[in-house]
Formats: sequence, structure tokens, C-alpha cells
Amino acid sequence: MTPTDILNPIHYQEVRQPLLQASTLPSWCYTSQVFYQREVDKIFNHGWHFVGREDELPNPGDFLTYDGIGGPAIIIRNESKEINAFFNTCRHRGMRLLEGSGSIKHIVCPYHSWVYSCEGALVRTPGMKGVHDFEKESYSLLPLKLDSWGGFLFIRYSDDGPELKDWLGDMPDFFRNYSPQLLRCVRRKSFDVQCNWKLLIENALETYHTGTVHQSTLGRQQSHPKATAGEWSCLFVYVDGKKTLSILPNSTQTLPINPDLSKEQQRGTFFTNIYPCTQFVFAPDSMWWLAIQPQSPTRSRLEVGSCFTESTIATPDFQQTVQSYFERWDTATAEDNAICEAQQIGQSVQARPPGRFAEEEHLVHELAIWTLDRILD
Ligand code: FES
Ligand SMILES: [Fe+2]
Repeated sequence: MTPTDILNPIHYQEVRQPLLQASTLPSWCYTSQVFYQREVDKIFNHGWHFVGREDELPNPGDFLTYDGIGGPAIIIRNESKEINAFFNTCRHRGMRLLEGSGSIKHIVCPYHSWVYSCEGALVRTPGMKGVHDFEKESYSLLPLKLDSWGGFLFIRYSDDGPELKDWLGDMPDFFRNYSPQLLRCVRRKSFDVQCNWKLLIENALETYHTGTVHQSTLGRQQSHPKATAGEWSCLFVYVDGKKTLSILPNSTQTLPINPDLSKEQQRGTFFTNIYPCTQFVFAPDSMWWLAIQPQSPTRSRLEVGSCFTESTIATPDFQQTVQSYFERWDTATAEDNAICEAQQIGQSVQARPPGRFAEEEHLVHELAIWTLDRILD
């Protein structure tokens, strides 16, 4: 396969067959710089990127940073309590302004101390007197498009592209009973995983692997895909006699089940993918996310966030009980990350012809077609 031929649709006809006749994506889709760069140009530069929760920024001056594929970003709440997004770059000589998360009165550049307000305006420029035609008003922070649903914040790098509400389609309605606006993020963890972004999200979209990879921890799970409208997909995983899937089977302590949920919603957990690679998981007692940020064809950053409703957090034994939930997430994430890294090594065998899909890999197949639809010539 030559780099110039890699985007020729002829190589992907077998992938596009109906699920039980289809082949998997060729190995080079997980290793090639050319394929990856096309994904960046055609998918990541135009879509919405989940960056965090509104409740993580409760007060003016609270900020978080996001190192996305389109550049580093600052998400910050201003004095009027609005949340905005800016590129995390100084208008003087391009220094990264903020790191991590925290709370500030002003944004002070660590290089030559230019000062920006939380609204993004340049307010102080020491030593710049006498510079010709220099007006601070022309050097505000560069804004990024930001929108939200139910407290979930998303940014977009390009000016053109779909609105967030069109991207999410019927997702807000689908999860209305879960009252996402009442969720609070209680923990975030991030991981550097040595694999292509698709391997991580594919793994999160099928239960076929659970009896093998999570044999002694989560155990075998059963699932079926749900119909969706918009740029997202959804897998319903049955609770199957257990009280919840959000703790390990050997844990007994559980947090309250949301009483607003329907019978079906109480009987399972919805594993979604907001295309291309953000998983929101809605469970009867909790919500968590897997946000994947590609770093290179063979490296990804994975953010795992954990949320509960305010009323659950207020229950007397919350701090103790939530440890069983953390244990479940930490255990499953470590097992999944390790399997994806080992799969990446196997994918480097370019002589390997594509494989076939099992019925349970419906959403993995769907993601492959979604990706091909956007990147091929
Ligand atoms: S690069 Fe920011 S003040 Fe110089
Ligand atoms: Fe898994």
C-alpha cells in the first residue's frame, strides 16, 4: 500500500458490507500517518470536542485547560458567570498561558507578564509603550466556539461545522430522565495510552471482549445496540440480575438508583459514542465518560470522568461507598488500556489481511463506516 493510494475507496469495499459479511478495517488505518492526518483534517478539525463539565467551574475565574488536536484551549468562567473558550496561547510570542485547572483573577502570561482578563481582553502590557500602532484591543485572546448540553461543555476548532444540538440529535431527549444538569463531576483521571484512538473507542463499544478481558473482574456482559438520530451511537448493556454495572460484581455497597428512570433504564446501562470518540455512560446510579484525544497515529490520551447527582453526593456514606465505583472504573480502565496497547502492537503487522466482525461488534462496524464516509477520496 503506497501512501498516495491509501485513501482510495476500492480498499474499503469489504468493510462497507452488511455487518455479518463485512471485513474489519485494514491494519494501516491504525498505524498510517496519511490515514491519521486525513482523520484530523476531515473529522477532528470540524467536530465537537467534549472538554468538561460546567460544575467543574462553579465560580468566576475558575478554569480548565484542554490539549486538543486543534491546539491547546482554556475554558474559563468570567465575571458575568459565563463560560468561554480561548486558544491557550499568548498574543505576544505564543506562550502557553495556563496549565491544568484552577482559579485565577487574571490570566498572566508566564513569559513577559502580559495580562488578560477572564473575558479574554488584553489589559496590561508592561514595556510596550512606544510600540507603533499597537492597540491592546486588537490582541485579545483568540476565541473558540463553545456550547453545552446538560452541563457538558464542548468546543469546536473551526468556524464552519454543525451546531452542537444538531450533532447530538436526539441524545438530550434520550437521556432526559437522567437529569444531566444535576450531575457533579467528582473525579477525573487521565491516561496516556500507546494506541490509535479507534482502538480505545471500539473497545468501549462492544461487550464481546468482556468475558475474556474482564473475566475475573466485570465478567461477561450482554448488550444490544439502540437506534439513534444524530452523530452518536448507543449500546444498551443489561444489568442481568445485579443491582448495577457500576461496581465490581464482588462489591455490595451501592449508591441510590435514580427514581426518575423508566423500568428499562433501571435494568441496564447505556454506553454511547458521541462521534468520533467521546463515550458518555448513563447508568441508573452514576454517569461516567471516556474522552479520547488522539495524539498521533499510535498514541492517545484518555480522560475518565465520574459523575453523580447532587442528591447522591449528599447521602451520608457517599465518600465511603463511592470507593467501590472508583475501584470498578480503575480496574476496567487498566484492563481495557492494556488490551488496546497489545492490540496496537498486533496491528503493526501490515501483512495481516482484515478480520471479520461478530454480531456483538455492530457499533465497531458502524464507527468504521462513519469514519470512511468522512475521509475517503
Ligand atoms: S509570550 Fe506572553 S508576554 Fe511574551
Ligand atoms: Fe472493556
